[in-house]
Amino acid sequence: MKERELKFTLRVFDTVNELSKEDATLFVAAKNALKDAYAPYSNFRVAATVLLSNGKTVTGTNQENAAFPVGICAEGTALSAASALYPDVAISKIAITIKSGKQIIKQPVAPCGVCRQRLLEYETRFNQNIEILLMGEEGEVYAVATVKDILPLNFSKNDL
Ligand code: THU
Repeated sequence: MKERELKFTLRVFDTVNELSKEDATLFVAAKNALKDAYAPYSNFRVAATVLLSNGKTVTGTNQENAAFPVGICAEGTALSAASALYPDVAISKIAITIKSGKQIIKQPVAPCGVCRQRLLEYETRFNQNIEILLMGEEGEVYAVATVKDILPLNFSKNDL
């Protein structure tokens, strides 16, 4: 038996002001879109802005449903919209932010497992890593270089 340690590097920025102009702009778009989330059941708004390799951005928000499992995460709407609008263009980055109706969340919130799998699909489809930028309502920003870092031992089309 041997052990293998799996590691990844999380880059942590003290505030959004430490980001590059490009990355800060993605959060401006995502924050502006939080008002458009449809989250009457959880009162937890999520917005995700995708940057494509052609420079375009596409933003999505969570869209809930009275039949709870039918709801779609913000990352899902953003990735699906980007793919529908620009089917042949790789995705470079995604900035994700939230607003809770209950409290001010000062730490980043990470994508759910399903959305990690969705991100992996677009990474493998275009053979290009997607940088994931995460921010709460305020406070630190996390940057993850590839979804593979937060979805180790994953299953993708490369396994089929
Ligand atoms: N949600 C997202 O939009 N993205 C995630 O990665 C986690 C959760 C949404 C789903 C639901 O509308 C609300 O947040 C509460 O779970």
